[in-house]
Amino acid sequence: MSSPAVLTSNVVTSDVVIIGAGAAGLMCALTAAGRGRRVLVLDHANKAGKKILMSGGGRCNFTNMYTEPADFLSHNPHFCKSALARYTQWDFIELVCKHDVPYHEKKLGQLFCDRKASDILQLLLVECSENGAEIRLDTAIEQIERTDAGYRLATSAGAVACQSLVIATGGLSIPTLGATGFGYQVARQFGHSVLPTRAGLVPFTVTDPQLKALCSELSGTAVDCLVSCNDKSFRENLLFTHRGLSGPAMLQISSYWHSGDSLAINLLPDRDALEWLAGQQAERPNIELKTLLGEVFTKKMAGLLCELWCASKPLKQYTPGELQAIAGQLSDWRLVPAGTEGYRTAEVTLGGVDTREVSSKTMESQKSPGLYFIGEVLDVTGHLGGFNFQWAWASGHAAGEVV
Ligand code: FDA
Repeated sequence: MSSPAVLTSNVVTSDVVIIGAGAAGLMCALTAAGRGRRVLVLDHANKAGKKILMSGGGRCNFTNMYTEPADFLSHNPHFCKSALARYTQWDFIELVCKHDVPYHEKKLGQLFCDRKASDILQLLLVECSENGAEIRLDTAIEQIERTDAGYRLATSAGAVACQSLVIATGGLSIPTLGATGFGYQVARQFGHSVLPTRAGLVPFTVTDPQLKALCSELSGTAVDCLVSCNDKSFRENLLFTHRGLSGPAMLQISSYWHSGDSLAINLLPDRDALEWLAGQQAERPNIELKTLLGEVFTKKMAGLLCELWCASKPLKQYTPGELQAIAGQLSDWRLVPAGTEGYRTAEVTLGGVDTREVSSKTMESQKSPGLYFIGEVLDVTGHLGGFNFQWAWASGHAAGEVV
């Protein structure tokens, strides 16, 4: 166990200062303190790990059993490989087991707490405390400067000096949980490029009156679909909401969507729509289209889709061309969202500190020695499903081993 930060002539000195007591910062703190380094974690919020507590609907989807570099978006796709390989999902699962935290796989390798997300925060805080890392909350960082020995910070609680400074302040999503652009500001101060940021894993909004009415009427209805955009596809649920489109399929594809792009939604991902409609026309010529669709979707959704695309009538009355057009709508429904709900509800921020100027092994800045960036502040963003926390653990651990 390391000794706490030392006060000399009104300056608190520590080997390592970590700004941000979130997932990445706490993992870095427990790892570095476990090596005997004096670690001080500073956060402006009144509580550590607020996003962990909110995550996974309160149960924290803390990792994914199938984590692969391909589950991450970055302008530098190779960057995440080294850290992910050196601290894997299995390493975090071992830590979860060490603390007897019960968990389960929900689907697709996504691991959630059986009880509450606070189990994960608690285990991180216990590890930090046992290893001697100190956490100071309600502390605003006012200024940072480089010194011969490392870095010196002016904070609302006084001056702090350290050899290694770790920026773990996350992205811009959910400002009410303490998110700020502080990490980007520090990166720019020390000569780093920051790639444009935008909200990811975020619901879509619609303004087209017909589509808006459909979404509103079907609010709360979920349907299995295959959604595609910019050569990326996800097979998951789509959820209609009063504002537009949400659910895991839409959150996933939102990270690949840019303003003006159309989404292609296949509402019959397990069948060939035209073959199915033509077969039904031959077998059940008198059944109405909306009745047939009501066997696959809810009756309400079937009726509204018919109103949106074509008049519902007995199948025998559709010409081959009309049937083909309906099949096209069902399997390749094209719609252009007006936008997204933005950082207010986004789970993550895409873009951020350019990883081409950061060591992929240690997370150290290539512009300013002793400065490190970890977690979501970097231009590494995971898919939905526990990947973003796995990146926070892996990058936090990589830095924690060397700071
Ligand atoms: P994080 O945001 O966790 O921590 C940053 C810390 O820095 C905060 O404590 C903040 O207060 C502090 N800070 C910011 N600015 C500061 C400043 N100027 N001065 C001092 N401190 C400052 N991921 C996943 O894998 N599984 C899941 O289930 C979910 N669920 C989920 C739900 C919701 C509602 C959200 C918003 C997000 C998720 N995520 C998720 C994403 C996940 O929460 C996110 O990727 C990680 O928390 C990122 O970890 P970081 O430590 O990088 O930042």
